[in-house]
Amino acid sequence: MNLNKPTACPYSTQTSRTDQPELPLEKRWSADELCKQLQPPISSAAAIDLQKDAQLAWRNSVRCSGRARWRSLRVIDARSANSVEESFDALFEHLKRADANRSAESFITVFPEFNPDQAETRIWNHQLMRYAGYSGSNGSVLGDPMNIRLTQIAIDLGWQPPHQRSRFDILPIILQFRGKLHLRPIPTEYVAEVAIRHPEYPGIESLGLRWYTIPVVSDMLFASEQAIYPTAPFSGHYVSTEIAARNLADLKRYNQLPQIASAIGLDPSKHAQFWIDRALVALNEAVLWSFEQAGYRIVDQHTVSAEFASFCNKEDRNERIVHGDWPWLIPPMSGASTPIFFRSFEPKIELPNFLYQTVPWNTPSGQAALAAST
Ligand code: ARG
Repeated sequence: MNLNKPTACPYSTQTSRTDQPELPLEKRWSADELCKQLQPPISSAAAIDLQKDAQLAWRNSVRCSGRARWRSLRVIDARSANSVEESFDALFEHLKRADANRSAESFITVFPEFNPDQAETRIWNHQLMRYAGYSGSNGSVLGDPMNIRLTQIAIDLGWQPPHQRSRFDILPIILQFRGKLHLRPIPTEYVAEVAIRHPEYPGIESLGLRWYTIPVVSDMLFASEQAIYPTAPFSGHYVSTEIAARNLADLKRYNQLPQIASAIGLDPSKHAQFWIDRALVALNEAVLWSFEQAGYRIVDQHTVSAEFASFCNKEDRNERIVHGDWPWLIPPMSGASTPIFFRSFEPKIELPNFLYQTVPWNTPSGQAALAAST
């Protein structure tokens, strides 16, 4: 890492170094390994323009179709968080600020940078808000199957699920701090959820579906050439398809399309009725309408794709290459009806960026923390 390199305006040019190490798209990093690769300088925090680095990390996120808004990302600086309480307070502050304007603004809360000589801080939840998944003895699952492992860990750490378990129990946040795990339920005043209703099909409301309003991705590592932050949760607003065509629809998630089809009067055994497709449209309408009624920002797949296409055109005009991971940028519905479908992208990771990390309970420090805390 060259401390003396001239500082170019990061907004004006490609910012990557030619000698940047290869950062494979799917690789899950440990902060330690990444630190050895990047060798960030021992820089004083004051020398780092956190806001700019975070905005560029968003702009460089190859799987994000919402990055047209990269310049609007706001930083909550929690680099001085020095205790468990301060850390949870920063997370709750994030939820509060994101909710204050109904997810219209995007935030990132940046915790202390990685220091190879200190035990790392990590959030074990994939997102700050997630629903518990309880597996039953007969292979059945109540709740979100994606979160079964985390739910079990929370229970092992002493979390008591509600007396009456449901499909939509908000999980507590699990924080790894100085070699131990700490668990906090999110205070109810910071949990905002929307009940899913449809303006024309009352049967959809009867299914009792709901979703939380603000996605806060909390398990990715924020890396720049100057520093590595294993804890830097970031939030934005939802695209309706994320909830309606994936979370509530995937066979391995809530798998609700047959119920939606019945609720709108279709027979889920007759494929020629396109019941899957009609159920997807109805569920998307319902999610979009319910969020809008509640005053939360949400966009449909056509709007976000059009925004992304104009972002690409703008980047072209600025002579910057837009790197992208095509299967992630194309929405899970209406793919070929969006302008992005006809564009190709190279899935190259440039710094600053957000990288995947080794699953926390699979790391030696995570396993030691789990053993020390249960
Ligand atoms: N796809 C994830 C989910 O459905 C959220 C990822 C972040 N999305 C966003 N719009 N910022 O929960």
